[in-house]
Amino acid sequence: MPGSHYSVAIDGPSGAGKSTLARRAAGELGFLYVDTGALYRALALQALQEGVPPGDEASVALLLETARVSLRHEGGTQLVFLSGLDVTLDIRAHEVSRAASDISALPAVRAFLLDRQRALARETDVIMDGRDIGTVVLPGADLKIFLTAAPEDRARRRHTELTARGAALTYDEVLRDLLIRDKNDAERPLAPLKPAPDAVLLDTTGNTFSQSLALILRLIRDACPERFQ
Ligand code: DC
Repeated sequence: MPGSHYSVAIDGPSGAGKSTLARRAAGELGFLYVDTGALYRALALQALQEGVPPGDEASVALLLETARVSLRHEGGTQLVFLSGLDVTLDIRAHEVSRAASDISALPAVRAFLLDRQRALARETDVIMDGRDIGTVVLPGADLKIFLTAAPEDRARRRHTELTARGAALTYDEVLRDLLIRDKNDAERPLAPLKPAPDAVLLDTTGNTFSQSLALILRLIRDACPERFQ
């Protein structure tokens, strides 16, 4: 769009490699990387801290009245704050993943976060990752990528990540949870996980990181020709 910034939407199920790929691509191309899942995770963490059931719309709606969630971007790293406290690491806990999937199905939560996400894309060139970026948040994005990989591949990645952070979970537990979350995210009535009609589908099963990164960089360069001429 003339006079506005470039935006790239990367959607897909958890563990497809969206965030690592999007962060690296943004770093190489000088775009801001926005991980929108972190916003849902921060609200989920607040619910857990306050003993609010993350699927209970009435209680969560009350929580939204006092919620103070914000993102800060520093040198390619996204920091997440809840009521002024840095919760960047806390929101990665396994319980938070589950609660985030529940809380993200609530219309009040999605409405609460929609404008914030759009505002970020108005400020600068962004690569934004999530579930509904191409379909709902930035339907006019210059490029939409839907990134998938086989569930076993995704569970293996998540398991390695969680184990590295000291979590004591088996691969089977991670796979089971991932399948439940996939189903939740894809079957919720509002902003379900699905590719936008004009999204480029990219299946990273069996790819190395650099193969997937090269594909994504090429797609972005082709979609934003004036920026990379
Ligand atoms: O990408 P993630 O695993 O950090 O996301 C956490 C949860 O938030 C996940 O269950 C899906 C949900 N989510 C969403 O509904 N819409 C987004 N744009 C991003 C995440």
